[in-house]
Amino acid sequence: MPRQRTFDLVIAANRLPVDRVVTPDGRSEWHRSPGGLVTAMDSVMRGREGAWVGWAGEAGEAPAPFEESGMWLHPVPLSEEELTTFYEGFSNDTLWPIYHDVIVPAHFHREWWQDYERVNERFAEAVCKVAAKGAKVWIHDYQLQLVPAMVRALRPDLRIGWFNHIPFPPVELFAQLPWRSRIIDGLLGADYLGFQRATDAQNFVRAARQLDGRATRGDTVTTQDADGTDRVVRASAVPISIDYVGLEELAKSDAVQARAAEIRTSLGDPDIVLLGIDRLDYTKGIRHRLKAYEELLAQDTFRPPEVTFVQVATPSRERVGAYKDLRSEVEATVGRINGTYSALGSPAVHYLHQSYPRDEMAALFQVADVMLVTPLRDGMNLVAKEYVTCRHDLGGALVLSEFTGAWHELQQAFVCNPHDIEGLKQTMLRAISTDPKDKRRLMRASRRRVAEHDVQRWADRFLTNLEMAPERPPAKGA
Ligand code: G6P
Repeated sequence: MPRQRTFDLVIAANRLPVDRVVTPDGRSEWHRSPGGLVTAMDSVMRGREGAWVGWAGEAGEAPAPFEESGMWLHPVPLSEEELTTFYEGFSNDTLWPIYHDVIVPAHFHREWWQDYERVNERFAEAVCKVAAKGAKVWIHDYQLQLVPAMVRALRPDLRIGWFNHIPFPPVELFAQLPWRSRIIDGLLGADYLGFQRATDAQNFVRAARQLDGRATRGDTVTTQDADGTDRVVRASAVPISIDYVGLEELAKSDAVQARAAEIRTSLGDPDIVLLGIDRLDYTKGIRHRLKAYEELLAQDTFRPPEVTFVQVATPSRERVGAYKDLRSEVEATVGRINGTYSALGSPAVHYLHQSYPRDEMAALFQVADVMLVTPLRDGMNLVAKEYVTCRHDLGGALVLSEFTGAWHELQQAFVCNPHDIEGLKQTMLRAISTDPKDKRRLMRASRRRVAEHDVQRWADRFLTNLEMAPERPPAKGA
């Protein structure tokens, strides 16, 4: 038997940073997924011995662990049943709605919870297998909230951090979860808990105090370990970001510039291009955005070919009921708008239910005179940061919902409340008509913010906080 390889830094996330791709000649290869987390972790892993524990994206047996771009990937299997109960069910039909303001109702099923526990246990065991003595473990997101305590029970020598990419709900919503105390206990297994906004961290601390009777002080919660000793867990905000330098470089490349010009021409060279790029998710406010646009068309504020709206809606969680309903509704709305307002060869809405590589996104961003980022709730929204990063020409304008984490950083954007359709329409018009000189100033300020707070800084801050996290309550009087 080969000796089990172990590592000083272990990442655990629901998905591995690779997707299986079958080549035309039938061979199967692993390709790095284009997501932000992967890019972020690349920079963290550089020069370290790191492992990543996660699901390989297909139900059934997991592939054997393998090395990819200097990282050890340790796949965790999910059965077809667990895909339904753990992933689509508890993660995305119970937790996701509760953590996003119950925009759609959350569904509670005890079997889903049981499988959530079982799969979290499997992740925890995998983490412990690959973690060297005293290693740092960085667990990601709502799918793995029980893993911190499970890892601690198996391996008290490890330093354990967890980061939540999505919002943490107000206590009144979190309280609905029948398993709320179990989740709080699961998270309190960590040494440090990172959140997108200060409010998210405060919501967690409040939940631990009010629902679980924990002693809290400032941004810390006191918990008891199995041996009865007290331990202090810190919860604070470390907003995630993007690889500013890498993306800007891509956006400046000749190929992307040429592609942007090509896209604009293929759209009929309109005066105004509006753009939305989202996973097709009810949290993203796509319906509200379309409604505002439809009303502006109905009022004859503008018409194609002078204006067009490109909506990229990346397929997501397609078997979950609320996502199926959303797709039907969005596609019916797009059909209605196009039927009523398109001109021959100039559709009012270009709707693309597809996913695109990074370079195509970068080109699209450069075409967008107005970028519509209007979620009803979003932990961060990296599209907003990607857009300003790609606008090295200082062109364009960002319309940004106040219900995103990004709004807390990009206050020079054109802020909107997506529920207020009248207000959203006015904001869209303001983003179009504001003097380009003023828009350039706003864009420059937003870009500076992202440049200074990039993904490397986020990862450094998280790992520093994890290192410095208090292990024991301060001595009395300290
Ligand atoms: C959000 C979550 C991630 C998740 C991603 C895509 O960004 O925070 O944890 O991976 O959505 O969703 P999916 O269900 O396809 O993994």
